[in-house]
Amino acid sequence: MTQTLTIARPDDWHLHLRDGAMLRAVLPETARHFARAIIMPNLVPPVVTGAQAAAYRDRILAALPAGMAFEPLMTLYLTEDTDPEDVAAAAQSGLVKAVKLYPAGATTNSASGVRDFNRVRPVLEKMAEIGLPLCVHGEVTDNDIDIFDREAVFIDRVLDPIRRTTPGLRVVMEHITTRDGVDYVKANDTDLGATITTHHLVINRNHILVGGIKPHYYCLPVAKREEHRLALRAAATSGDARFFLGTDSAPHTDANKETACGCAGCFTATNTLSILAQVFEEENALDSLEGFTSRHGPAFYGLPVNEGTITLTRGDAVNYPAKIITGEGEVTVFDPGFALHWSVSA
Ligand code: DOR
Ligand code: ZN
Repeated sequence: MTQTLTIARPDDWHLHLRDGAMLRAVLPETARHFARAIIMPNLVPPVVTGAQAAAYRDRILAALPAGMAFEPLMTLYLTEDTDPEDVAAAAQSGLVKAVKLYPAGATTNSASGVRDFNRVRPVLEKMAEIGLPLCVHGEVTDNDIDIFDREAVFIDRVLDPIRRTTPGLRVVMEHITTRDGVDYVKANDTDLGATITTHHLVINRNHILVGGIKPHYYCLPVAKREEHRLALRAAATSGDARFFLGTDSAPHTDANKETACGCAGCFTATNTLSILAQVFEEENALDSLEGFTSRHGPAFYGLPVNEGTITLTRGDAVNYPAKIITGEGEVTVFDPGFALHWSVSA
């Protein structure tokens, strides 16, 4: 029996597009299915000012193949030198939709991130005043904190204090990976949302480490134990509007992944929607898929739901390329480890 599902065209509320040849190769993978995406600013050097965000936006639009429609929603990379007035101007012009907080050293290209949270207080206060969301990479970076505990410790030591001292600050906890993250969101009614990636709904830490190390399953925050994956699946499929899709699709070349010190990131843009349909089907929650991919994010960001639609059709196994060819080298597409049965058409 053929089963079809038509939903409002999705958005991706956390995406890495990079620049140059990599941007040109990965952008169509997202634009094929998604209308908009929140674009991460962790380029080298990072996108710090409104002028840099405007230039990056122009490069993204120039890289978009003819006939494809896509709106990049730009972000600024928060540093200890960020000027609150520059942030406010970039937000008020409509260019910038969020500011991204990376604790220094937490992940790929985060060296310019924040060490002393008191030094960004004026920016956070300005953001609370104008209603501009803060997207947070929620991991502490202390050497003595186990990598599997870094999200939970961040919530207690950094996120909760920031939220208490900055009333009205709107926060997106990015790519949550723990039951602790889910519970923290649920315990707070206002001004708090969370994105969940596709891959964290599918893999736990065994997938990375059992039977040989799997570099293409390594990302940050690293996948946790099974009980956390189950908590994420329950949150994503619950219909709770505080949870929405941010794929964190993060391309790195195979040469940079399959090496003694491999980069963090899973590239999921290509097959994300097929995987999600299957996850939601397994959870008997296909009627909640549209909320997660297409409605909850716009509601949080105060943007309209997209007018276009996509249609998902269940049928024979769908084949996706195993790799994307880019001018910088091959990029492996995330392998969910099971056959995919939902195909996507515009
Ligand atoms: O796995 C990740 N990759 N996590 C991040 O936070 C950054 C990203 C990247 O830029 O590759
Ligand atoms: Zn990311």
